[in-house]
Amino acid sequence: MNNQSQRVVLITGGSSGIGFEMAKQMVAQHSVVIICGRSQEKLEDAKRKVPQLVTIQCDITKAEDRLALHKQIAMNFKGLNMLMNNAGIAKRYLLAKTGDLESRMEEEMQTNFLAPVLLTQLFLPMLIENKGTVVNVSSGLAYVPLSVEPSYCASKAALHSMTQSMRVQFAKSGIKVVEIFYPSVDTPFQGGHAPDNAMKPDEAAAIALQGLNSGKEEIRVKMAGFLFAVSRLMPKRALSLINGFIPDNVEELLAHA
Ligand SMILES: NC(=O)c1ccc[n+]([C@@H]2O[C@H](COP(=O)([O-])OP(=O)(O)OC[C@H]3O[C@@H](n4cnc5c(N)ncnc54)[C@H](OP(=O)(O)O)[C@@H]3O)[C@@H](O)[C@H]2O)c1
Repeated sequence: MNNQSQRVVLITGGSSGIGFEMAKQMVAQHSVVIICGRSQEKLEDAKRKVPQLVTIQCDITKAEDRLALHKQIAMNFKGLNMLMNNAGIAKRYLLAKTGDLESRMEEEMQTNFLAPVLLTQLFLPMLIENKGTVVNVSSGLAYVPLSVEPSYCASKAALHSMTQSMRVQFAKSGIKVVEIFYPSVDTPFQGGHAPDNAMKPDEAAAIALQGLNSGKEEIRVKMAGFLFAVSRLMPKRALSLINGFIPDNVEELLAHA
């Protein structure tokens, strides 16, 4: 899929944050953009702001929702040529303290790792037919974990590994596989505690879209690129750097998380 004016894209989690900004900017570039999310209210709000958006309610962690989403798109948007696995969640907790570790890990792994892979498999025939692109939205934390978000980082590291396998497996089918690594971005994802250096979502989406349009396979947005380089050259330094921002009273702060 070389001609960006022909883009027909599904952005999961396109009703908020970076996904919404990406959807808005792709619409401005004349793409047909379908977004999905769990909250109908958020989808309606997105549609009010950008009326060209097609919205479909879908919880990507539910098999029946994924099938219904696929059915609706296969019926109405046969030309779909990009799947952007963007929806994601993150939880902060201490392994020694949390009482519901299993359900936390399940929720994050389902949303950030399993669902993107299962959706990709579902849309594969359509993407092969249309010589399309799979875009997996990852994080600089796939390279180096922030220890207070242990399963979030593990889910993105798993997605990073799976993305590389997808790239090799799908190459012969003419499907391109792209990974976008974002740094901290000030969105609802941050729960109102975005770090001071967090990027604005419109800027993060603009840089990622520029990378997509120029044909890059791995798009490291700003600080995510720096983190990647440090993690390759000085892995221990990268770990202490990223975890150096955790306040001393973290146990107190996360006592009830
Ligand atoms: N913000 C950052 O600092 C940052 C940094 C690095 C990477 N990222 C990655 O960037 C992506 C977008 O994050 P964001 O910051 O834009 O987050 P956000 O503002 O919280 O948006 C998340 C979107 O995902 C949707 N979503 C969540 N769970 C879903 C599910 N089970 N099924 C369908 N949709 C679901 C949400 O809608 P509903 O709640 O209505 O379902 C929402 O539209 C994520 O993959 C995240 O890991 C973010």
